[in-house]
Amino acid sequence: AHVITDRCREAKDQSCVEVCPVDCIHPTAFLDGDEPFQTTTQLYINPDTCIDCGACVPVCPVEAIFMADDLPVDQQKFIELNAAYYQ
Ligand code: SF4
Ligand code: F3S
Repeated sequence: AHVITDRCREAKDQSCVEVCPVDCIHPTAFLDGDEPFQTTTQLYINPDTCIDCGACVPVCPVEAIFMADDLPVDQQKFIELNAAYYQ
């Protein structure tokens, strides 16, 4: 699966959400204004539904998204952190 790292935390640009064909990037509740934006520190990809299409990678302005296999060693904790959001 693809993984969002903590580079997302400042930007939370949401371009990734718009291009994902399987709607596996969350939370998105703040997009309709029902939830405060500050409820999460960043967005996460659901590893069970991500199809590894790669569409989200180039649209992120802060390059926060990686294929899990390509994560730098010190960023590999985000594999578990993304998955944990959906447990
Ligand atoms: Fe969605 Fe594709 Fe990115 Fe996976 S790789 S999160 S399916 S846009
Ligand atoms: Fe975050 Fe980049 Fe998506 S900043 S919300 S991972 S487009």
